[in-house]
Amino acid sequence: MHEIAKRFEQSRLINRSWRTRYGFYFLAVGSAFGLGNLWRFPYVVGENGGGAFVLLYIFLALTLGLPLLIGELMLGRLTRQSVVMATRKVSLTSGKNFKFLSALPVILSLVVLSYYSVISGWVLHFIMQFSSSAFGSTQIGSGSMMLLLKNGGLQFGLASVHLLITLVVVVKGIQNGLEKSIGWTMPFFAFLVVILIWRSTSLSTTDDVLRFLFYPDFSKLTLSSLNHAVGHVFFTLSVGFGTMVTFGSYIREDQHVPTAGLRVSLFDSIVSLGALFIVFPLVFKASNRTITDPALMFDVLPQFFIEMKGGTLFGLAFFVCLYLAALNASIGLLETVVSNIVDTFKNMTRNSASWITGAVALLLTLVPSLSGSFFREARLGEKGLIELIDSLLINGFLPLVALGLSIIFFKGISLKEKERLFVDKERFVSYSMFPQWLFAVQWFAPAVIILGWLMHLFGLLKTVL
Ligand code: PHE
Repeated sequence: MHEIAKRFEQSRLINRSWRTRYGFYFLAVGSAFGLGNLWRFPYVVGENGGGAFVLLYIFLALTLGLPLLIGELMLGRLTRQSVVMATRKVSLTSGKNFKFLSALPVILSLVVLSYYSVISGWVLHFIMQFSSSAFGSTQIGSGSMMLLLKNGGLQFGLASVHLLITLVVVVKGIQNGLEKSIGWTMPFFAFLVVILIWRSTSLSTTDDVLRFLFYPDFSKLTLSSLNHAVGHVFFTLSVGFGTMVTFGSYIREDQHVPTAGLRVSLFDSIVSLGALFIVFPLVFKASNRTITDPALMFDVLPQFFIEMKGGTLFGLAFFVCLYLAALNASIGLLETVVSNIVDTFKNMTRNSASWITGAVALLLTLVPSLSGSFFREARLGEKGLIELIDSLLINGFLPLVALGLSIIFFKGISLKEKERLFVDKERFVSYSMFPQWLFAVQWFAPAVIILGWLMHLFGLLKTVL
């Protein structure tokens, strides 16, 4: 048998051992739901002026994020491979060469993992703070986040601990490692989030918050807002990283891919909107707060917990759950890199691929860790290095890489195959949506991504010149 074909067959055998229907959901939802929802979304909404941006975000989540998410899942489901080998396979069958595009999502996952680890380290910091306050005698000071940002060594240490934990889970193997352990804690987290929304919205600031979040004042949008919304939609749904191709390869034959995609994106968007209700009432209460900065959630939430009755334990539980969500997302990123390396370099064992990837990610972590200390002077206008890295990765590269993936998918898979996987004769919605979905992937997505990117670039040039 041809060497590539043989390897396809091998990993197909591994994937077949994936039996439970919910297994896929644990992975896909686990990867989508993370720091993007609770930490990133609120400050990006703040940066883009509130209501109009929220509306744009919801619109794009459904018309851009969901169609491409379905595309990625389908690529995995059809080829039963991770993104690099999946691309090779469709390159062989379609006679077109997409290989050069397929390495990009893997590289992006690696770089995003390193920066994501720093933010996960921030969560670890608050777990430590709340545990020592709950079980020891130390009190959490209100400037805790500021102190952390200035301490590069501590941030690097915490990010390293996070990477190590992620590595251990991945080295142990995806099936046994994460599905059971983390998935089951999420209903409890959802419960904490609901309580928090309730507590936070009973503050007197709710009216102002509702106006800010839901009154769409389009004049607040900037030239960069479209690009910011596109980037965030991809980031929060884990689209454009190849992660969903890997998870798509675990979908069972009898599962309907578009329905799976729809459930994942609906869940993710609802949680994101919930996060706004937690964070903004607190932000408005601390009225002089800048709402555009990445430390936003970490500044306001701990303070709220400290002032709340029984808040120390509550805060501890919240940060532990948030950490598990961040861990789950990081595992998705690391798993994407590792599974692609193992699939591509046949002499490499899973263990060595994991450790090498971990070591490279650790090295890269140095830069964002030190952004508030050693690289303090590296700023562009108001933005510090960590914001610049975030913006470069999520607003700059991610939309383009996602566009590349959608081209692989659209051009590489025949219309017949797409139809077979999309259309379920028994679901009216499924066959009536098929043409819309094709249109979204083929025309709407490239147009919006490129338009957003160009407007952003134009906006940047205008501020520089
Ligand atoms: N979607 C995750 C979040 O919102 C981030 C992520 C991206 C995780 C890509 C895995 C892969 O936090």
